[in-house]
Amino acid sequence: MTEAMVRLDAVGKDYGAVRALSPTSLEIAKGEFLTLLGPSGSGKTTILNLISGSIAASAGTIWIGGRNVTGLRPNQRELGMVFQNYALMPHMTVFENIAFPLRVRRCSETEIRKKVDEVLDVIGLGGYGARKPKELSGGQQQRIAIARCLVYNPDLILMDEPLGALDKKLRDQLQLEIKRIHRTLGVTLLYVTHDQSEALVLSDRICLMNGGEVEQIGTPEDLYFRPRTVFAADFLGESNILDVSVVSSGTEAKLSTRSGFQIAGVATSLSAPTAKIMIRPESFAVATDGEQGPNTVTGAVEDVTLTGGVVDIQVRLGGAETVNVRRLTTRDFRAMERGRPITLSVKSSDVMVLE
Ligand SMILES: Nc1ncnc2c1ncn2[C@@H]1O[C@H](COP(=O)(O)OP(=O)(O)O)[C@@H](O)[C@H]1O
Ligand SMILES: [Mg+2]
Repeated sequence: MTEAMVRLDAVGKDYGAVRALSPTSLEIAKGEFLTLLGPSGSGKTTILNLISGSIAASAGTIWIGGRNVTGLRPNQRELGMVFQNYALMPHMTVFENIAFPLRVRRCSETEIRKKVDEVLDVIGLGGYGARKPKELSGGQQQRIAIARCLVYNPDLILMDEPLGALDKKLRDQLQLEIKRIHRTLGVTLLYVTHDQSEALVLSDRICLMNGGEVEQIGTPEDLYFRPRTVFAADFLGESNILDVSVVSSGTEAKLSTRSGFQIAGVATSLSAPTAKIMIRPESFAVATDGEQGPNTVTGAVEDVTLTGGVVDIQVRLGGAETVNVRRLTTRDFRAMERGRPITLSVKSSDVMVLE
């Protein structure tokens, strides 16, 4: 394990009777891009504010770069922050906005000019120094906010939903830019979002939050392919969640769906006689007519939707049980007409038994 840039040891936050964050332990490695992902109110901003020092912890110890910062003021913690609402100073030029943290640190005029010009190039806004923030688009203003925090070379940058106010196209563009900046500068980045696709695109690891607690932490692949709970399976990507009864447990568990299909899946621990399984829509293969291998279910097509590059096929397995199947779009997708019998198979490694 590489050296930790940030370490939380059982850090919690209560507001009177309101528990914003249960005691949480978490490490962020040097140079890592870690994203706090979760619904509104799950404690993401609370973690960020505890690390930045803008709120005080009710319990636990916070370490940054090997230094215990628990009792230190924000300006003693040497980190950069970017918020959703740019927080630029409207009466100052772009140049002066970016130069501000350097002036606070009493850098020389030549050094300031050199660093601000460099960082304007990094964010692709060279030549914009003389403008006022109101003469820039939202995306450009957010780039300036990022530049203002890059300019003094912090080892750690915290970003709280920095792209939340931008439209989708700009958001996609700036995501790639933030990823590039992270890669080129090797800075440690702690990022907050409620957008699961943004977390998947950007992160080395994702820390999924639920009700002031860490639900699951791991690489994007871990969370996408091996969600441990219904909450995790539901929050990231599309998922089919089915009720099953357990026929036999073990690492490859034998399960029976409500409409009576036998399915094998990956289980970590199984104690109850019933469980839930998750299968991603793209994990189903549509078997050629009549083929009945292991892990096969049959049903009838209920609905077919063209959404662009993929087609969603709603399949009724029997009773109230339906699954969504996703395939790449082909010209003959209408051949999957309503009512047509369909056979689906899935690898047991793509069937996750949830806790
Ligand atoms: N100043 C405060 N006083 C009381 N409760 C707060 C305060 N700040 C946050 N909370 C509560 O703490 C919980 C977590 O909030 P927050 O960390 O802001 O969530 P997120 O950023 O994930 O949306 C929420 O239930 C919120 O209402
Ligand atoms: Mg928040």
